[in-house]
Amino acid sequence: MKKVTVSAPSKLHLSGEHAVVYGKPVILVATSKRLYVTLEKQNAKCKTQNEIGKIKNELHYLAKIVKLFEKKYETAIDNNVNLTVHSDIPIGVGMGSSAALAVATIGALSQWIGREWNPLEINELAFEAEKIQHHNPSGGDNTIATYGGLLWYRKELDFLKTFWLLPFKIPRDFSSFMLINTGRLESTGELVQIVGEKVKKSTSSIMRIMSDIEVTTKQIAQYIHDENEPEFLGALKENQKYLEELGIVSTVTRKLIREIESVGGVAKVTGAGGIKGGSGVIIAVHKNPNKLIQIAQAYNFPSFQVQLGGEGLRREQVVI
Ligand code: PMV
Repeated sequence: MKKVTVSAPSKLHLSGEHAVVYGKPVILVATSKRLYVTLEKQNAKCKTQNEIGKIKNELHYLAKIVKLFEKKYETAIDNNVNLTVHSDIPIGVGMGSSAALAVATIGALSQWIGREWNPLEINELAFEAEKIQHHNPSGGDNTIATYGGLLWYRKELDFLKTFWLLPFKIPRDFSSFMLINTGRLESTGELVQIVGEKVKKSTSSIMRIMSDIEVTTKQIAQYIHDENEPEFLGALKENQKYLEELGIVSTVTRKLIREIESVGGVAKVTGAGGIKGGSGVIIAVHKNPNKLIQIAQAYNFPSFQVQLGGEGLRREQVVI
């Protein structure tokens, strides 16, 4: 029976978020948390809520992605096809859940209609989907969801985006990351727009911060390459300082991060941040991870670990 399952990974921003919207480089790392999209012909007798026909009538992102795909390839997916999404990526907190959804759905649909497997093409269409969903995205999130690993990415122009899969990994003997989910009330688009307003009002001071972020991003690539953990952690801390100067880190998140620093740890926001409530997932590092778990618990924030450098877009099963 015809069935296609395609998956895409989540991501963390190590440095360069927001600055990447203004042409600065960004370093992203894929994680082991993934999202899976399955398409299958449904049994006529047991209809489900997941028929593409029903999904297309909704207002959510998935409907927009399917319609964009149909328009691009001048095709109509049979309304009776069943589309299910399974994901262990926390939603809307900076781990790239929406980009993983766009990439995996477009990948699955392209296999369904028998197109050749073409990650470049899938990534480009996922970027178009991200543009519908978010305000002025950089394209970094869909690119890491497509290619995985450890990625250096830069958007020069809408049609000119460069990336390089770094041919090394975050060294095994670096302390592992603890991720703390502080929650988030704003969307990525809103947060990008807030920074955009600041750029309009005080262009030179905000662009100076973006240039400082660029320096940090380059340092982070260098320190990972050199396997220099103390300098790497110093640069992560520096990056967090600039994100706070940009004004996208909430009061509670700043308090949490200061507390982590006060016990000798380092922490940074990853992704768009958040102002009103939490600031999404933060990366926290400490020689003794239990200290981080205790601090997170005191705030009632979930904490968890992931493996870094996950594989990009992947065909799990294709039965045509
Ligand atoms: O919070 P996320 O995972 O959506 O990441 C957004 C990253 C930004 O640099 C703020 C926006 C972008 O398009 O790159």
